[in-house]
Amino acid sequence: GITRHYTFNVRLKNVTRLCHTKSMVTVNGKFPGPRVVAREGDRLVVKVINRVPNNISIHWHGVRQLQSGWADGPSYITQCPIQTGQSYVYNFTIVGQRGTLFWHAHFQWLRATVYGPLIIFPKHNASYPFAKPHKEVTIMLGEWFNADPEAIIQQALQTGAGPNVSEAYTFNGLPGPLYNCSAKDTYKLKVQPGKTYLLRLINAALNDDLFFSIANHTFTVVEADASYVKPFETNILLLAPGQTSNVLLKTKPNTPNAKFFMLARPYFTGMGTFDNTTVAGILEYENPSPHSSSSNLAIFKPSLPPINATNVVANFTNKFRSLASTRFPANVPQTVDKRFFFTVGLGTNPCPKNQTCQGPNGTKFAASVNNISFALPTTALLQSYFFAKSNGVYTTDFPNFPLHPFNYTGTPPNNTFVTNGTTKAIVIPFNTSVELVMQDTSILGAESHPLHLHGYNFYVVGQGFGNFDPKKDPAKFNLVDPVERNTVGVPSGGWVAIRFLADNPGVWFMHCHFDVHLSWGLGMAWIVLDGELPNQKLPPPPSDLPKC
Ligand code: C2O
Repeated sequence: GITRHYTFNVRLKNVTRLCHTKSMVTVNGKFPGPRVVAREGDRLVVKVINRVPNNISIHWHGVRQLQSGWADGPSYITQCPIQTGQSYVYNFTIVGQRGTLFWHAHFQWLRATVYGPLIIFPKHNASYPFAKPHKEVTIMLGEWFNADPEAIIQQALQTGAGPNVSEAYTFNGLPGPLYNCSAKDTYKLKVQPGKTYLLRLINAALNDDLFFSIANHTFTVVEADASYVKPFETNILLLAPGQTSNVLLKTKPNTPNAKFFMLARPYFTGMGTFDNTTVAGILEYENPSPHSSSSNLAIFKPSLPPINATNVVANFTNKFRSLASTRFPANVPQTVDKRFFFTVGLGTNPCPKNQTCQGPNGTKFAASVNNISFALPTTALLQSYFFAKSNGVYTTDFPNFPLHPFNYTGTPPNNTFVTNGTTKAIVIPFNTSVELVMQDTSILGAESHPLHLHGYNFYVVGQGFGNFDPKKDPAKFNLVDPVERNTVGVPSGGWVAIRFLADNPGVWFMHCHFDVHLSWGLGMAWIVLDGELPNQKLPPPPSDLPKC
């Protein structure tokens, strides 16, 4: 591969949407941010210069970062944030991956405005496992907040309440014509008849799973989270925040006398406030017939499932299978060295004295894994691990199983068991074969949680509704062609089982990719120890690694 250099100038920029102008943090003045491209095997060298008042760090979401954990990017996990006036060079090689990923800020809620596509093409002379598309198009789903999203979460954390929802969803930063004062900010996709387009879809929204559909057109799904899947057809896609998907769109053989809406709006099963609005873009054929000008064409709308359509989602996610071909085998761990069972869910904490809290019954919202709310430390875990082997910043007693088992999807016990924030990690030896079952709890209403693991892809070997049954369910696991991902939705009122081989030494964050749940503590850290061989060890950090 070759080395590709990028410069990210993090700077403020005035951006107007919905007739509302705000000064916001951007990369190179762009919203969404610039596209980063590479080929499998290339090295990326990205110099990030912070010229804004906020701290920041950039995460290369889904990049495995094999032995390059210092470039992963989550603030206070693998690095201290880059402070105002400082810079940091992210230097990493793309090994064994090709497809659609994205990059985003990984500091508080800055990724609301700081994100962009990361496109990895196959090696030179390597082809896709499907016919070469006529054209490739990237569509990023996102959210627009009139207010400063950083202020929104700070306010929510102080009051203990749920945060304000965004004003709009967006396609490539554009809310579209279904919002007030937004018609001119509409994403348009112009296509020719009888061609195949590869759509690279990315859900960069902060807090919502999104359905996506285009009227009168079907998609063939060919990739998920930069891993090829067995192609399948669908009219409706669901993407959780942090998930990406490549789909083929075959256009109609003849130019129709119509335009077609593409729509996205949330899938939501939890309690509380949610944004039920819809972003629209327009699919338009080039050169409509001479007697119909584009403006008087009929426009068709797709119908999207209801907001809480859990069965639609389960049917859709069950269709994903790894390609599992000779060229792209599925290396599913067939044996397990270590089993883990994590509950994931929301809960509440008592209101601190001298404060009034606006969460349920005067409490404050919290979220947890195994009833433990994760608190970010004040220095980076990876630094602390690498140089001082803990130094009191974190403890290694994160439980492998919940401390207080109960009927997770039945009536919750009175005590909701969410601890105050602590920083706990699990330590596993190099090359441990891990099986992890994640169980949604219905303490505050069942809700789907998109769990994202840094530094790894994992295989989704099983999922189901209700309580996971360790006696019966493992017999049904798919160990042949399960989908390989970096972000999986733990189903609302159900469970998901994943397997991965811990072959990447370092400290790896695992967390809900709803930023609000992450802010409430839905996360934990894995520490994967070095192996014996030189190529199984995490090298020392680069000299410009930021200091806290
Ligand atoms: Cu895309 Cu830790 O996140």
